[in-house]
Amino acid sequence: MTPAIKEKIEHLRNTIRYHDRRYYVENNPEITDYEYDKLIKELEHLEKLHPEYTTPDSPTKRVGEEPLTQFPTVEHRIPMLSIDNTYSDAELREFDQRIKRMAGIDAGRDIEYVVELKIDGVAITLWYEDGLFARGATRGDGFKGDDVTANLKTIRQISLKLEPAHKKYKIPRVLEIRGEIYLPNKEFQRLNEEKEEAGEPQFANPRNAAAGSLKLLDPRITARRRLHIFAYAVGFYEGVQLKTHMGCLELIKEFGLPVNPNIRLCKNIGDVIRYCDEWDKRRGELDYMVDGMVVKINTLALHEQLGATSKSPRWVISYKFHPEQAVTKIEEIVVQIGKTGTLTPVANLTPVLLAGTTVSRATLHNFDEVSKKDIRVGDHVIVQKAGEIIPQVVYVLKEKRIGTEKPFVAPTFCPQCKEKVSRDNEEVYLRCHNPLCIAQAKRRIQYFAIRDAMDIEGLGPALIEQLVDKGFVKDYSDIYYLKYEDLVTLERMGEKSSQNLIHAIEESKHRDLDRLICALGIMNVGSHTAEVLAERFDTLDKLASATQEELEGIYEIGPVVAKSTVEFFQNKHTQVIIKKLKAGGVNTSKLVTQILAKNLKVSGKTFVVTGTLQKYSRKEAETLIKSLGGRILSSVSKKTDYLVVGEDPGSKLDKAKELNVHVLDENDFKEMISCK
Ligand code: IVH
Repeated sequence: MTPAIKEKIEHLRNTIRYHDRRYYVENNPEITDYEYDKLIKELEHLEKLHPEYTTPDSPTKRVGEEPLTQFPTVEHRIPMLSIDNTYSDAELREFDQRIKRMAGIDAGRDIEYVVELKIDGVAITLWYEDGLFARGATRGDGFKGDDVTANLKTIRQISLKLEPAHKKYKIPRVLEIRGEIYLPNKEFQRLNEEKEEAGEPQFANPRNAAAGSLKLLDPRITARRRLHIFAYAVGFYEGVQLKTHMGCLELIKEFGLPVNPNIRLCKNIGDVIRYCDEWDKRRGELDYMVDGMVVKINTLALHEQLGATSKSPRWVISYKFHPEQAVTKIEEIVVQIGKTGTLTPVANLTPVLLAGTTVSRATLHNFDEVSKKDIRVGDHVIVQKAGEIIPQVVYVLKEKRIGTEKPFVAPTFCPQCKEKVSRDNEEVYLRCHNPLCIAQAKRRIQYFAIRDAMDIEGLGPALIEQLVDKGFVKDYSDIYYLKYEDLVTLERMGEKSSQNLIHAIEESKHRDLDRLICALGIMNVGSHTAEVLAERFDTLDKLASATQEELEGIYEIGPVVAKSTVEFFQNKHTQVIIKKLKAGGVNTSKLVTQILAKNLKVSGKTFVVTGTLQKYSRKEAETLIKSLGGRILSSVSKKTDYLVVGEDPGSKLDKAKELNVHVLDENDFKEMISCK
């Protein structure tokens, strides 16, 4: 092969990397997107013609081809701890004093700090070996995280290969770079608009959107989310000398990863406080979310000396901003009906930008709150986001009233079913007690399908609205009787999405007992309580016949939960619904006991599924295996126990033969899973 081609390929790669850096890191592109795409296409073309010159760090290798089935776990070489919070100038001064005491530094002397924005995203770590991006992971529990390398590779700001901008820098043997993945506000808004159009649930804030995008199993979708990164620290390193935190940031920048530009080296704590106060006021200027500042001691030797508590290092502290507030107007007050019939007043607002997101609704909690704060339609109010997703109305600007504002009267009838409503036991909430109320049914179905419950992908609020209104579904058990022919007639439901939904519903039949208990929507029983109940009762029937005393006897279950659980199962409607769920094929027992009783062949074994099966989709086969206690791997290795093959299995079959892995065709597989 001509070396000229190799050189040409290398040259193209370097050119693309150069433009990536101009565009993504320096924010200063030299060429148009069109010209850039042409370079990529040319490189792809040459690599196809000369596969022998393909390298894993090529800019064409950012997006993998195959979705994963799960993320492998990686252990962090150095734990990824969290940071202690402070909320005031005084607390920052205390921090400074404490450090000096611990490090034996004279109270009057100054310590140098590096002050950074605290980016509100998802913490990740990038591991480079000999300059090549080897692995990236989420923080997880601080000690172990998920290996999300494939998704991180799709982020163009992350160098696949470290290249110093100046020759004097050597590539370290190992360099672990830590940082925050975030979604700029603009991208967040774009993503939510797309979701709205598709009738899918929207992300509550940019952080959730970033976290969700990073945890997608299909990197091709992650690639479209346009995630960004700011690197803010060096973790483990070998083959390089570092003395200060500023030096670490310089090194990261030198190697082409973006470091936030608003970083300041402060000569003492007074400087730190001034800089924090400055950003408390200015954060609205940013195109991404920040929730405070991070204050770090500059000298690394002091980091060593101070060490860490079990939760956080002693050399760093964060300063949390005051919750952001904005003025807007109440356009309308509407009443929402929850899954247990609770009526909640919600304000529709003139849209306003608050802490980086556009806000158009605020919860008013309950009707007493509305009258206590004297909130009227047409009022100008202060809204605030204090960490939670839904903003709240803090107070009314009464001086802005012009006399046309309308006081709000709490409803006496359910706005949906027109039944009389009444106060609940604690006298705080109004509740509609009609078990047939359509609004409640919709909320219950919605809840049934969410991720923590039956996790039925594609069954979102807009679709449920249609299904109930058209009479296809009255309660959540009807979901299991839906037919493809029903679904395709609905708005925004094509053939593909109808098929996908049918699959998702089918798959949800194999959920474990705790998920089902959670999904039922028993008052006061969320996912944690559902786990506790499933732990104690192996089947839904056993739980349904438990007495109040029996339930109260369980650690963590109090009289309130016990009462609502007993009442739930005594209800005639519930009993009918549960019968229908069972008849529809929904699993109602704990899967672990099923495994022990039924399927010792699958439990604990590892499987790879490949090719087209007749009876199941690949995903169904995998869910089945998982529900019987087996584990799914994405590729064949020595650790694989079985390869399940359908038609056109491809290279995985060759690999399995080579490694002597057991191969099962569809019939063998069916026999295995039905084996009692
Ligand atoms: S330093 C132990 N710097 O805040 C210190 N963290 O609550 C290592 N974060 O998990 C982190 N911006 O995800 C550091 N400039 C910054 C940061 C930052 C955001 C996040 C990070 C961490 C969390 C701690």
